[in-house]
Amino acid sequence: MQDILINRAGSYMHAGTEFSGGNMTHLIYNDPSFEVTHDVFPKGTVGCFYTMDTEEFEFNYIIKGRLEIFDVKEKVLLSPGDTFCYQKLERNHLFKAIDDVELLSIRKTPCFGEFEESVTHLNEILFQLQNVDGDTLSHCERVKNLTMGIAYYLEFDQSQLLNLFYAAKFHDVGKARIPVEILLKPEKLTDDEYEVMKTHSRHTYEMILEYYGPEVAKIAFDHHERLDGKGYPQGLKGDEISLAARIICVADAYDAMVVTRPYRVGMTTKNALAELRRCQDIQFDSIVIDALEKYLLDLDKEIN
Ligand SMILES: [Fe+2]
Ligand SMILES: [Fe+2]
Repeated sequence: MQDILINRAGSYMHAGTEFSGGNMTHLIYNDPSFEVTHDVFPKGTVGCFYTMDTEEFEFNYIIKGRLEIFDVKEKVLLSPGDTFCYQKLERNHLFKAIDDVELLSIRKTPCFGEFEESVTHLNEILFQLQNVDGDTLSHCERVKNLTMGIAYYLEFDQSQLLNLFYAAKFHDVGKARIPVEILLKPEKLTDDEYEVMKTHSRHTYEMILEYYGPEVAKIAFDHHERLDGKGYPQGLKGDEISLAARIICVADAYDAMVVTRPYRVGMTTKNALAELRRCQDIQFDSIVIDALEKYLLDLDKEIN
């Protein structure tokens, strides 16, 4: 048909591009004034609708799954067939995919292309690493979700949130440059091996720098620093560590404690929070732990 543009199912303009926290986004149609995407959020994905400076309009139709949108004041659960749209948000809003969610999204300010190239490259590195260690990609994804949740309660502005988003999502991408025999060693690492493992912060810095610039790279570089100065790689102390890096540090430690590994069962939420509290003001920022606790409560996680 000459006068009707038809695209058969699966033949997207850009297929299979992942740009944001484990979700798949397919560009279905675009022209200079608007774009249409089909977005897939795996169950558990947490993301954020940001306050924007520009005039923006986005309309979403839920095809599948339930999506919860919430801010400090209220919570709304949306189901298939529901729609939501926004134009110039007054506050940041978090969303969480309760099930595997599919959305049709129409927006006035095309943004697909902006994300595509850079995120795809580092994501591919994480995907390859997942094949090797079976862990880093999913760990980074969970840490990103926690980080976004914590940051929300600390009221980050839009540009800070985006920097934090990328820094968290790729905070361990440098592990791709750690020799496999050290990365996968089941026994405790020797001192020398541990020193090599610690260099993943610097590798991460270099890899992120290329795509996201120095601000994002520096946040990720500092994710193993501690308030008491006993962290690495630089042994920074207190305020020398940005709030953004302190957030990823807490999210990282929390995830490491609660995740279940083949050789041990993960801690309960309550015990992991207690462990963070035990190390607050020494290793972790207490304000960040407060925010994590609020976030977990708001997600109705049973503290048991
Ligand atoms: Fe790390
Ligand atoms: Fe990590």
